Amino acid sequence: MPVITNIDDFKPLYRRRVPKMFYDYAESGSWTEQTFRENTSDFSRLLLKQRVAIDMTGRNLASTMIGQDVSMPVGLAPVGLTGMQCADGEIKAARAAEKFGVPFTLSTMSICSIEDVAENTEKPFWFQVYTLKDDDFMQRLFDRAKAANCSAAMITVDLQMLGQRHKDLKNGLSAPPKLTARSIADMMTKVRWGLGMLGTKRRSFGNIVGHAKGVTDPSSLSAWTAEAFDQALDWDRIRQFRRMWDGPLIIKGIMDPRDAAEALNVGADAIIVSNHGGRQLDGALSAIRALPAIMDAVGDRIEVHLDSGVRSGQDVLKALSLGARAAYIGRAFTYGLGAMGEAGVTRALEIIRAELDASMGLCGRRDVHDLDRDVLMIPRDFAGDWA
Ligand SMILES: Cc1cc2nc3c(=O)[nH]c(=O)nc-3n(C[C@H](O)[C@H](O)[C@H](O)COP(=O)(O)O)c2cc1C
Repeated sequence: MPVITNIDDFKPLYRRRVPKMFYDYAESGSWTEQTFRENTSDFSRLLLKQRVAIDMTGRNLASTMIGQDVSMPVGLAPVGLTGMQCADGEIKAARAAEKFGVPFTLSTMSICSIEDVAENTEKPFWFQVYTLKDDDFMQRLFDRAKAANCSAAMITVDLQMLGQRHKDLKNGLSAPPKLTARSIADMMTKVRWGLGMLGTKRRSFGNIVGHAKGVTDPSSLSAWTAEAFDQALDWDRIRQFRRMWDGPLIIKGIMDPRDAAEALNVGADAIIVSNHGGRQLDGALSAIRALPAIMDAVGDRIEVHLDSGVRSGQDVLKALSLGARAAYIGRAFTYGLGAMGEAGVTRALEIIRAELDASMGLCGRRDVHDLDRDVLMIPRDFAGDWA
């Protein structure tokens, strides 16, 4: 077993162990992948200021996200098809997160259902909902989340239609995978993955098949997906969703200060500055560069969180220093899960915690609540000066 010392170390193992269609599904962005690439590369444009001879003992990473205690301000972002990266993947990731003391967010498009995850975990998790046309189905999703004791709902607002990822079309992505000569040949080399899948019943979209009208089996699902997402979504509709859920609410997928102000008006408890990990609008600004303007617009009135491109504790430190309350990891935990199951998610969280802790100390700061822009050297053009 290789020694995993950073998030990138998972990738060769992940690639060897998981069928190509699911590796590619995670490791790609939409169209030219410009935004996918810049989400990570823009973090390296922010430099950290090294400080010395400042007492760095007694450091603290514990914080809160929407009022809930967390051992560090990092959550697991909702990732669809997590249960195809490894058998029962959502349950494994949720267990790793709860033991670590950070939130796990279950995607609408998960393989394990809300009820499955609730039955197999101890602590409340968060549930992500897409904005769908069907009111009854939306209400039932919120009701099921409530019945499963979910402690927050996260509404993703940046997917009224799907950004195209070329590899998913070329690979014929589906869950469960369609059996073709190519997919069978590939899966035969992924023995561990295959044995895991043979040992579980959870192989299709657990929140949808058998729950959405007319979706009784995976083959009717793709037609449902194309129809179900609401291209007519507006802020009034999002207000209706707010009324369907009376618990803490997070709005995910904000990249513009005007949209941040709208989310505030809806009564959200937090927003996530996110471009969906570069999977939706290709050519959009990276999330970390979008953050300063959004902080300036609403940062004193609502919790601002960030995802997209976070691969290290240094990245988390940079987001927090720009004012974010918390950051999320999507691919970083998915690599760990695909490579090593639950232990891989735990390892990913340990790596990020250790990097955040050491980097914060080396910047002369001892507490995640005591971070500000003075931790960073920020290029003058970072927030952008656009015509
Ligand atoms: C494979 C994959 C599937 C995703 N599925 C969902 C989803 O079902 N719902 C959602 O709101 N976001 C989804 N996202 C976006 C993530 O929640 C998050 O915004 C993104 O992963 C952050 O970027 P990062 O992967 O660079 O950390 C997905 C991302 C990936 C990589």
